[in-house]
Amino acid sequence: NKVFRPRETPSLQDPLHWPHFLELANQFDAAYLGRYIAENDYPKTVYSNTPSIKCINPADQRDEIGEVIEADLAQIEMAYHNAQCHQVAWAQKSVRERARLIMAVADQLELQKGVLIHLLVRESGKTISNAQSEYREAIDFCRYYASLAQVDWNDMPPPPLGIVIAISPWNFPLAIFVGQICTALLAGNVVIAKPAPETPLIAAQAIACFHLAGVPAECLQLLLGGAAVGAALTMDHRCNGVSFTGSLATASKIRRALAEFGADRVLVAETGGINAMIVDSSAQTEQIIRDILTSAFDGAGQRCSALRVLCIQTDIAEHIINRLKNCMRELVIGNPARFSTEIGPVIHQTAEQKIYSAINHFQQLKYPVFQSNLMDECIHGHYVAPTLIEIPKLSEIKDEIFGPVLFIYRYHAQQLTPMLNAINRLGYSLTMGIQSRIERNIKSIINQTRIGNYYVNRNQIGAIVGSQPFGGVNKSGTGPKAGGPWALSRMCKNIDPCQPH
Ligand code: NAD
Ligand code: ALA
Repeated sequence: NKVFRPRETPSLQDPLHWPHFLELANQFDAAYLGRYIAENDYPKTVYSNTPSIKCINPADQRDEIGEVIEADLAQIEMAYHNAQCHQVAWAQKSVRERARLIMAVADQLELQKGVLIHLLVRESGKTISNAQSEYREAIDFCRYYASLAQVDWNDMPPPPLGIVIAISPWNFPLAIFVGQICTALLAGNVVIAKPAPETPLIAAQAIACFHLAGVPAECLQLLLGGAAVGAALTMDHRCNGVSFTGSLATASKIRRALAEFGADRVLVAETGGINAMIVDSSAQTEQIIRDILTSAFDGAGQRCSALRVLCIQTDIAEHIINRLKNCMRELVIGNPARFSTEIGPVIHQTAEQKIYSAINHFQQLKYPVFQSNLMDECIHGHYVAPTLIEIPKLSEIKDEIFGPVLFIYRYHAQQLTPMLNAINRLGYSLTMGIQSRIERNIKSIINQTRIGNYYVNRNQIGAIVGSQPFGGVNKSGTGPKAGGPWALSRMCKNIDPCQPH
């Protein structure tokens, strides 16, 4: 299926190969950079002698950047034991002291800018601009939540839950990971953090920042591994709450596991979305094209917020789709370590195969499929060409395809309400884009749907901590929204169940 096109400069001779890239990413920390390059590469991180997970650059499978070890049952037991021993002492710290420590974590993250951005690009395949945004978001989470704790609670915090397990995905391996940990710690909980197995090095670096800032090692512990480690941690009577971001399927398993031990176990789950953008015939063409490309393909479509189905009024559909295809022909898809790259790889081979098999399914149904070209350097990594698939009815979409695949559905103005009902029936409610210059159309769409975050006449990704609280409802999440005023209170006991999120 893949069509490759040659690049003018072969990637290995590119001036932005790793050391140069590091230099640029680390320009504010030259001394650290010197040491870092002298060591030549990211040090291999090995935590014990049980089965290991290799960390491979998604953009180039020949680039093995580290190796970590899965936690075993003894380590899980030890982590719970440590957490139990230190829970009371951490809960007794004043809110001001906990907030001071989290502010210090933000400072540590700032000091580690180079290595964190390097790892975001190299371990998770982010483009440099995506890595920078995520890096900033992680720091924003620390400062926002630390300020919120002091403003909301002064020195009268509600009681904490106890031991909280933070389970995070690979697609925001720094920001979501750090955000989950901050909310739980600020509320007085001790935390056992289990990041995604795809991005353990970023997680280890982030945890180092917490410890360097003064958060005691027993109050925040890192356990590496995949589903088995996550399941063992959540199927334990000592687990008082779980802060989870990932797929709906995993969230459902965790909910069942927690229910075994009582109804008071808290689950905060942020899951996926089949996110629509509704474009009516009054929308501005130039703006729509840019917003569609960003919403659907930025981050190779590996955002929960990403646009999955473009619903476009028939009057303008042909014109917009043609322009969209022309722009997709020009997208720069390749090595994410290069500043000019717009779209990088997907996370690994399994993801690549899963996305292509979904595309094949629709090709076999003979629905029109259009794809961008990949550069020839993509052959060494896990790349999926940005893809459009035209479908005759929305019920063709069965689940979230977590990659750069955009469904297109054409609608007549009088079909708006049935179409919105079909979107509601998909059951996910995370983001929705509305492109219209008619105020009453915008209001009518909002009134007929129930979505976590609406974005009007702009792209629908990249919520900003503090000013755009982010999170879904229905199958897309439990709330409270991340980066919003209620995020801390769900990590405490005795919250008011009526509070909004
Ligand atoms: P995933 O559910 O496969 O994994 C997420 C985490 O859960 C990983 O750390 C994994 O090891 C762990 N896990 C897997 N099985 C487990 C189990 N049985 N018990 C406990 N833990 C378990 O998701 P993913 O593929 O890493 O991430 C992609 C998904 O995350 C997409 O669906 C995306 O939409 C969603 N997501 C949502 C948001 C949001 O804010 N709503 C943000 C980012 C990603
Ligand atoms: N918070 C991320 C976004 O808004 C997921 O795109």
